[in-house]
Amino acid sequence: MKVLITGANRGLGLELVKRGLLGGHEMFAACRPGADCGQLEALGQEYEGQLEVLTLEVSSEESVRRAAEELEKREPVLDCVINNAGVLLESKYNLEDPIVNLDIDMLRKTIDVNTVGPAIVLKYFAPFLYRAAKPCILNITSEAGHLKTGLYTYLAYGVSKHGANMYTQKIRNYLAQSPEHAHTRIYMIHPGRMNTVMGKENAQIEASEAAEGILKIMEGEIDPKLEIPFINYKGEPMPY
Ligand SMILES: NC(=O)c1ccc[n+]([C@@H]2O[C@H](COP(=O)([O-])OP(=O)(O)OC[C@H]3O[C@@H](n4cnc5c(N)ncnc54)[C@H](OP(=O)(O)O)[C@@H]3O)[C@@H](O)[C@H]2O)c1
Repeated sequence: MKVLITGANRGLGLELVKRGLLGGHEMFAACRPGADCGQLEALGQEYEGQLEVLTLEVSSEESVRRAAEELEKREPVLDCVINNAGVLLESKYNLEDPIVNLDIDMLRKTIDVNTVGPAIVLKYFAPFLYRAAKPCILNITSEAGHLKTGLYTYLAYGVSKHGANMYTQKIRNYLAQSPEHAHTRIYMIHPGRMNTVMGKENAQIEASEAAEGILKIMEGEIDPKLEIPFINYKGEPMPY
């Protein structure tokens, strides 16, 4: 499969690239301008012709549009887009009043990357999927997007991931109702609490374990049929 992954230079994104290459997929690994892409470059040498590194900033429409225009000249078809890039700009140890002490710039930045980012990426890369025989969209969201009582920390992150889930369901409804796109597989995925820069406060699993499950979902080995396709990395339904 030809696969685009955002946020591919570290964490879950990098593990998805590594496992995808091992599985024989052709990987298009996107990182931010100026990001440390050393590990991707080394993989590019090892897997010559199977890995291409793209530069894009998911919250910038101009940056994503340019990356899509560039790729289209060489490769007009993608079988899967994995919206993985994300930010968590809060800590569970910040127990201040989240109403009067809310950092508005932080809230905007979080929503910009986690909610608006996947929408920009799909706006410009969906045409590549529309040309594929068996297209697949995997939006990496989070259990943090679930409405529930108790926790009030990670406010901006929770808002952003709830929004990303709603975005995914809206486009899923559209695709399901379009005769020419109804065959598109689309999931919003909680990847587990991973031991990455982002997840270290709550880690329960390594990113490699999450990547293994997510690739099984991509390949169709795990293919849950759900009205609301919010699942974890094992393909189990998540509460929403
Ligand atoms: N870790 C967890 O426990 C956990 C739990 C639930 C959900 N998730 C979700 O899983 C995904 C991957 O998380 P992770 O733990 O691998 O995070 P991570 O280690 O912090 O990596 C995040 C990746 O996203 C990239 N990124 C951030 N902002 C970007 C932007 N504006 N444009 C393009 N790329 C950007 C980062 O690039 P730079 O190197 O340039 O910063 C990095 O490659 C995220 O969507 C996250 O919300 C994670």
